[in-house]
Amino acid sequence: MDLKQSIEAAKLAIEAVSKSKPEIGIILGTGLGMLGEKIESGVHIAYESIPHFPISTVDSHAGELIVGHLAGRNVVAFNGRFHRYEGYSMKELTFPVRVAKALGIHTLIVANAAGGLNPQFAAGDIMLITDHINLMMENPLVGENDDELGPRFPDMSAPYTPELLRLAEDVALEEKIKLQRGVYLACVGPCLETRAEYRFMRIAGADAVGMSTVPEVIVAVHAGLKVLGFSVITDECLPDALQPADINKIIETANATEPLLTKIVMKCIAQL
Ligand code: HPA
Repeated sequence: MDLKQSIEAAKLAIEAVSKSKPEIGIILGTGLGMLGEKIESGVHIAYESIPHFPISTVDSHAGELIVGHLAGRNVVAFNGRFHRYEGYSMKELTFPVRVAKALGIHTLIVANAAGGLNPQFAAGDIMLITDHINLMMENPLVGENDDELGPRFPDMSAPYTPELLRLAEDVALEEKIKLQRGVYLACVGPCLETRAEYRFMRIAGADAVGMSTVPEVIVAVHAGLKVLGFSVITDECLPDALQPADINKIIETANATEPLLTKIVMKCIAQL
C-alpha cells in the first residue's frame, strides 16, 4: 500500500468516529500534555485502532488521538509522539502529521522538552522555536516523492511561520510570560550529549537540543502547513559547567513549566 492509501485509510477510520473537522493539529510532546485535558467534547481514539498508525512505546507518552474543541477551534491533538530512538522510521513517526493534514488542518503546533545550549537560558524557560538544525542525519522525505503530498524540494527558508512567531510573542507579552527565542537542534538520541557535542552544537548556532520535532516539522512544511513550535528548557547543557543529566529532574521541570506553555498555546489557538 502506498503512503497516500495509508493516509486515506487512517483518515476514514478517524472520520468514522468523529464528525468534527479539525483546523489545527497539536503534538502534545513533553510540556503540552495538559492541553489534551482541556479539549472539550473530545473524541479519544486509541492509536491501535487507527490503521497504519505507529504505537507509542514510551511510558510517559500515552497513545491516543483526541478530536474536539479547544479555545473555540476544532483541533486534533496527538497525545503520545513517536521518536526515532524508539526504532520508528522517519516515515512512521511523521505519519500522524500526514493524517492531520488529510483531516483538514492548516496549522501544526509542536512542543518538546529540550536541553538549553544558550548560556542565557535557564531550566524552566520556554523557547519559541524560530528555526532548526537537523542533525538526525536522516530525512523523512527521502524516497519517491508524491507531488500530491508536497514538492520534491520543499523550501526551508522559514519553516516556523513568521506570523505565528509574532503572534506567540504578542501573547507571551500580554500574559507576562518570559519567552526566549532560538534555534532547536535535533539529534537521534537516546544518549544525551557529550560536552564536546554540546560545544559543537553551540558553535553551530543552536540554542536548544532535543530528540524530536524536526521530522514532524519537515513533513508539515512539505505538506504546506503553517507551523508553531516551542521548547521547554529542562536542563542546562553548558559544556564547561555540565552536571550529569537527571531524567527525573528533566521531567519535573517540564511538568512545572507546562501550565505556562499551555496558557500561551491556548491563547494563540484562540487567535489563529
Ligand atoms: N539533550 C540534552 N538535554 C535534554 C534533551 C536532549 O536531547 N532533551 C531534554 N533535555
